[in-house]
Amino acid sequence: MAKQEDLFKKVIAHAKEYGYIFQSSEIYDGLSAVYDYAQNGVELKKNIRDYWWKAMVQLNDNIVGIDAAILMHPTTWKASGHIDAFNDPLIDNKDSKKRYRADVLIEDYCLKIEKKIEKEITKAAKRFGESFNKEEFITTNQRVLTYQEKINTILARMGKSLEKENLADLKLLIEELEIADPLSGSKNWTEVKQFNLMFGTKLGANTATAMHLYLRPETAQGIFVNFANVQKTGRMKIPFGIAQTGKAFRNEIVARQFIFRMREFEQMEMQYFVKPGTEIEWYEKWKEKRLNWHKSLGLGEDNYRFHNHDKLAHYANAAADIEFNFPFGFKELEGIHSRTDFDLKAHEEHSGKKLRFFDPKTNANYVPYVVETSVGLDRLFLAIFSKALQNEELEDGSSRVVLRLPSILAPTKVAILPLLKKDGLPELAKSIMNDLMYNFQTMYDEKDAIGRRYRRQDANGTPFCITIDHQSLEDNTVTIRHRDSMKQERISINEITLIVSKEISFKKWIHNFRV
Ligand code: GAP
Repeated sequence: MAKQEDLFKKVIAHAKEYGYIFQSSEIYDGLSAVYDYAQNGVELKKNIRDYWWKAMVQLNDNIVGIDAAILMHPTTWKASGHIDAFNDPLIDNKDSKKRYRADVLIEDYCLKIEKKIEKEITKAAKRFGESFNKEEFITTNQRVLTYQEKINTILARMGKSLEKENLADLKLLIEELEIADPLSGSKNWTEVKQFNLMFGTKLGANTATAMHLYLRPETAQGIFVNFANVQKTGRMKIPFGIAQTGKAFRNEIVARQFIFRMREFEQMEMQYFVKPGTEIEWYEKWKEKRLNWHKSLGLGEDNYRFHNHDKLAHYANAAADIEFNFPFGFKELEGIHSRTDFDLKAHEEHSGKKLRFFDPKTNANYVPYVVETSVGLDRLFLAIFSKALQNEELEDGSSRVVLRLPSILAPTKVAILPLLKKDGLPELAKSIMNDLMYNFQTMYDEKDAIGRRYRRQDANGTPFCITIDHQSLEDNTVTIRHRDSMKQERISINEITLIVSKEISFKKWIHNFRV
């Protein structure tokens, strides 16, 4: 556990030191759970967004994108259920005066039991060595089975209580499990209360007549209210999808774990409109497609798993999360929901406008069902950044910090390094950079010894360094150094573009997603 916390601290410190993420309004002591993307962070975030957009919109000829406004008519949120049901169950500790989400306290309790299961597995794996069969162990070992049964019982009861809004039972569960305030250890709890997560704002200067608006808590509703516009103007046939990336806002009470849970964050969502009755088939397809998309980034297949929901949101008839192995354990990265016709029907009722598809084959109208894929861009950033950051022991006994970002996502693709600051080397280096910058994000660095500059670029995640030396002036060759293997090759200046383009080719990286 301490090791995990250390790793996470390193991730946060590295993100600041190398210009990826800063605390918002830091000079005023910061704003809690709000972050700014710095000079490298903004490039990495943009590249992740592009990688998603190209995979979803460019590679699917029946998916189009939109960019709806953050501010929407307030009835949107009545129709979507957010005004009535977008709540977190909160509980206060009377002694520490700290506020918690009741469901998170219970889930954290279950996580501790899960850790015990992991310990049993590690112990058994050591004992049995190569003959260890994990699957068999977890399905037959009595201690593991008892732990798992306990988790299942607790989560099932919590799910039922949340569904029925039985807040008294949530409190009872916390008391029965003897859950204490993680900070003070006190078990002196208040009742559980519901708290709406939407941020409110006003439209108009006159306080008496101003319209009360909300900052959108999800981008999805901007897609639903534009369903008919896009379907008609794009002459879209079912099945088809609408994709969107953009900011969302939630007044998270337990906002923690750096950019994992923020109050202002960005979502990348796609709503896939299908014929009623086919939604589960499409839901399964999108689950697989989205998992393959994540795996295509090469961060390790074992770092992903599905978590199928027992407790479904009010709009869903099936739901699963793709969980990622963050530095603090497996947590939700992306949600895939079969949202039925809940949203379109609700908007029909509240707006009085038809949101239907006319099927020429049957000569009839219907309200399409929807399969949604929804991933947090910031959360994905954290997943990629934290897995990429590695401390590597080298053969010569030294070590290096290397940010093994997927090269297609790296903020800087090529660093240009003249060996010396004289003899015409900087001039040649700059002319090479001036040519490469039309195709790639480049960086020029002539300070310090070349070894230190390589280390700096490793820690920055730059996949290629180009070193210009005296031989370059004579025969137009340079040294290209690869970040991951640290291999160095002598190549012609003319070859740089081809080598880098091949490595960061979208087609090469996305291959897994398409199969
Ligand atoms: N439209 C469906 C929807 O919004 P959600 O599970 O609430 O579903 C989808 O959110 C994704 O958005 C999550 O899987 C997560 O990646 C991201 N997300 C949600 N709340 C977040 C927060 N407070 N900070 C960062 N990312 C968040």
